[in-house]
Amino acid sequence: MSATEDLRMLNTFQRYGIKVIKGEGAYVWDDSGKRYLDFMQGFGVGILGHKNQAIIKAIYDQLNQLDICHGSLYNDARERFLEEFFRIAPKSLSRAFLSNSGAEAIELALKLARKYTGKKGFISFTGAYHGKTFGALSVTYSEKYKEGFGPLLEPVRFLKYGDVNELNLADFSDIAGVIVEPIQGESGIIIPPDDFLPTLRELTEKKGVPLIIDEIQSGMGRTGKWWAHQHWNIQPDIMTAGKGIGGGIPMGVTAVREDIASVIKVGEHSSTMGGNPIASAAGAATIKEVEKLLADIPTKGENFMKGLRKLNSHTVKEVRGKGLMIALDLRIRFKDVLFAQLKNGLISLYSGLTVLRYLPPYIITQNDIDNALSIIEKSLMEIDSKRFI
Ligand SMILES: Cc1ncc(COP(=O)(O)O)c(C=O)c1O
Repeated sequence: MSATEDLRMLNTFQRYGIKVIKGEGAYVWDDSGKRYLDFMQGFGVGILGHKNQAIIKAIYDQLNQLDICHGSLYNDARERFLEEFFRIAPKSLSRAFLSNSGAEAIELALKLARKYTGKKGFISFTGAYHGKTFGALSVTYSEKYKEGFGPLLEPVRFLKYGDVNELNLADFSDIAGVIVEPIQGESGIIIPPDDFLPTLRELTEKKGVPLIIDEIQSGMGRTGKWWAHQHWNIQPDIMTAGKGIGGGIPMGVTAVREDIASVIKVGEHSSTMGGNPIASAAGAATIKEVEKLLADIPTKGENFMKGLRKLNSHTVKEVRGKGLMIALDLRIRFKDVLFAQLKNGLISLYSGLTVLRYLPPYIITQNDIDNALSIIEKSLMEIDSKRFI
């Protein structure tokens, strides 16, 4: 509980009702001293968990060296971040703009697509989530986020996510860009059929329409590859990254193909804080730290999903995921289970009405996974038994 936040902040967040004051690795503590396994990690930001010592050192050293440096001045920390980023970036991309959030990265991606093609429209997909600023909201699917905020960008057409037939029939003539999550996060960890992304790549390439791949949630190693689209061997024209890329410091990245980058001129886009030395130093250190953990992510994810599949509960409809981007789809609404998990010491995310979503940090151990599984099992049993009273 926080009377101050309840009184002073806009009422925009679905609150969990606990006040978290301390973190360490995969765990956080509330103000009563209760410990929780944190599989929310700031909605997927904490890819290395809390208080990673290499990130702390990078931030601390940078603070002692130079804290503020606008993009109009060159900076060594920014240089180091760019060198690290383009070492792991898809090979089709050669330039980046650094900003402060996922939605901001999306805004620029949309602007670039329009400027490059001279066209106005966008194709997005059912279930898509790209953020809540005007441009990002326009290509986000859910109507409930848009009500009362129009007019948004137009025209935007939403094709059925995963449906190759719809792709083949799509009209690209007025389209500036197609934006897609390689695995949909907010709508419940939806993995498309194997021919979906390669077909989309082939069609957009043939039509000369930039393909914007949104890796804000699925990227930075989350699925066991640096970028989730690499599971399907395709290359983006524009890619957005965010969440954990700044090691917990706000950072968004819009990475672009050379010829698309060349359409933007001095002054046409900017961000006061984008590419600041602190985020850059934290971001460069994050890439090096993730690199050490990347190879183990698929096994950790498989072990967690194996355990979820073995759960003794008839309320489980489906377990799905890739790497450490995992969903437990229930036959009942998630809410009671989410709060039972919270009471039992596990913080998780949710999607839609029935999905519990887990975005654990890459540092989790088998012990943490076993701990989470026993909390989930206990919580499901409590809810099941309640339903029979
Ligand atoms: C795929 C995707 N794109 C964009 C965003 C928006 O990022 P931000 O909340 O940092 O603006 C999110 C956030 O959840 C996301 O998951």
